[in-house]
Amino acid sequence: MKNLTIPNKHVIGCIFLLIMNLVAQVSAFWSSGHMIVARIAYEQIKSINPTLMEQIEAEIGHLGQFSKDGNYPFVEASNWPDDIKELGMSQFSQWHVVRTPIIRDGYQGDTFEEPQNATWAINEMIQTLNFTEKKSIDAGFGVSFAWRFLIHLVGDIHQPLHTGTLYTKEFPESDNIGHRWKIDYAKSEMDELHHFWDACVDQYGSIWNPLTRSEWDQIGTFAHELMTKHPRESVSKRLEITDSFDWAAESHEFVKNFVYNGITLGEKISEEYIERGRKFINEQLVVAGYRLADISEKIATKRYYDIYQ
Ligand SMILES: *[C@@H]1O[C@H](CO)[C@@H](O)[C@H](O)[C@H]1NC(C)=O
Ligand SMILES: *[C@@H]1O[C@H](CO)[C@@H](O)[C@H](O)[C@H]1NC(C)=O
Repeated sequence: MKNLTIPNKHVIGCIFLLIMNLVAQVSAFWSSGHMIVARIAYEQIKSINPTLMEQIEAEIGHLGQFSKDGNYPFVEASNWPDDIKELGMSQFSQWHVVRTPIIRDGYQGDTFEEPQNATWAINEMIQTLNFTEKKSIDAGFGVSFAWRFLIHLVGDIHQPLHTGTLYTKEFPESDNIGHRWKIDYAKSEMDELHHFWDACVDQYGSIWNPLTRSEWDQIGTFAHELMTKHPRESVSKRLEITDSFDWAAESHEFVKNFVYNGITLGEKISEEYIERGRKFINEQLVVAGYRLADISEKIATKRYYDIYQ
């Protein structure tokens, strides 16, 4: 018996690690999408003012030893707020979403909204980065933390399923931003509506920190293709919207009219839905990237030029 017990334990351990690995990956599924958004912003800022990007990356680097960053801090930082969930730091989880209720099928029960949502958190991060008065302690922790969350959350708020949760008779406690809405899709890791959209409607694979050189190039190719297809001029009206509350409101309209449209619970996802979804999420990635560029440039200019010169 003893001889059998030990290998069994080993096998169980392996399965456990495998499952943990899967859980960790799934909870940070939007990694490629986040990196594409950040890469678009990175290219935009670099083309206007390369020094500004170096300064931002130097600040992000203060928490480098507590991250999976490699050589590309601005882009890799986009996944840090998901990575730290692995540390049991779930206290920031509500920052990633805005749980505005979507009520369907005459649902009449209670709804719930968290007080510290993504729009709130984005403003908090901007406020921290705006705060350039002299301090009596090293500011490195705070600014690195704030940049990392800002880069991540601007991505999240453009994923429509981060801005609404559906209440129906089937989901009296809501579908938990699409996590409880199981879908019939060929890839088992995309078995929930939320993951399907986190994965940019099954585009761009899943690329993780730290980035290898070839992964960096791959993200760069995705970013450039998207910017070519959707140049700034083509989305200029949307770029005039600069407030995170308005971004969330916009995203909420999309989740209502787009994500939960043309899809039926328990039925196979149609090719039409996929094609429409991909086109739509691609524009979201670019718009998020441009908006992140604009807001980062504004903040950084204030930080490094208005104050320190
Ligand atoms: C998010 O949280 C803030 C602060 O609690 C709140 O004022 C706002 O209404 C919430 N919802 C949205 C969509 O921003
Ligand atoms: C940050 O600073 C900018 C520029 O001075 C200002 O427009 C903006 O309202 C500030 N935002 C926050 C959240 O403090």
